[in-house]
Amino acid sequence: MSATEEHELDLLVHRMTWEAEGVLSVELVHPDGKPLPAWTPGAHLDLHVGGTIRQYSLCGDPADTGVYRLGILDAPSSRGGSRFVHTKLRPGRTVRVAGPRNHFALEPAASYVFVAGGIGITPILAMARQAQHDGIPYRLTHGGRSRASMAFGGELAALGGEVTLVPQDEQGHIDLPGALEGLRPDALVYCCGPEPLLKAVEEAVPEGQLRIERFAAPAVERRGDDSAFQVECRTSGVTLTVGPDTSILQAAENAGLSVNSSCRDGICGSCETRILAGTPDHRDFLLSEAERATSETMMICVSRCASDRLVLDL
Ligand code: FES
Repeated sequence: MSATEEHELDLLVHRMTWEAEGVLSVELVHPDGKPLPAWTPGAHLDLHVGGTIRQYSLCGDPADTGVYRLGILDAPSSRGGSRFVHTKLRPGRTVRVAGPRNHFALEPAASYVFVAGGIGITPILAMARQAQHDGIPYRLTHGGRSRASMAFGGELAALGGEVTLVPQDEQGHIDLPGALEGLRPDALVYCCGPEPLLKAVEEAVPEGQLRIERFAAPAVERRGDDSAFQVECRTSGVTLTVGPDTSILQAAENAGLSVNSSCRDGICGSCETRILAGTPDHRDFLLSEAERATSETMMICVSRCASDRLVLDL
């Protein structure tokens, strides 16, 4: 989905199911039974829950246009969204969603290696189902705290592909060299999970073959050499001055502009904005090298300007 085509819908919670310890799947349907906007494996929805907006990967079947299914972990580190889902959201209630949005799309490849840690299995489940449907060979490794905490094991097994479950309390951490063994140059590796797993995979897989999705922004040192620049917001006719300690998003909000945002860390894509002129300094954790090179869009919560001025579709 492009930065400008955004669906916002109030959907009905149709069903909630325990998938594992601390993991609920939530099925959402249109209140009038209408088909839902299409999505592809790797996509997520923004859920407006508990006074906050959180991203959850779609883990159902894109061919079923009547329902969105999400897998949601009651994470101890939850900033409110997942807690709300687990304690307050119930079938029959309505929830506002935006998206679907996909920054983790399954690209064509001769084969896939999927590596998931914990709840990172949600986008990977939809990808494995797609690969199975398309007849593309894949190897999937899912690591989790314990067998009881690992969701969707039955569904993964039923797909019929090469699936390995690695409960940490029985087998320790994922054997990454084993999971990646024989990786062919025409294969792609998809990984979603906690930061240490992503880091290990980044070190083991050539950059061009790796696609990852993060739960949280990795720690980065503040550069300290940021300078002010101007942003012309072409749609609203406002020109912003973005100071060294301010983001474009903050400057836009301070000027009274209404801008989508959620994570404010460059990992969710909510604030993706079309660039009309100027050279961005991309600092997000979402856009691929190819997307950065075209510079069609940028994440205005973290990215800045490499020239004196940007013109944005704001
Ligand atoms: S608000 Fe999440 S990427 Fe900008």
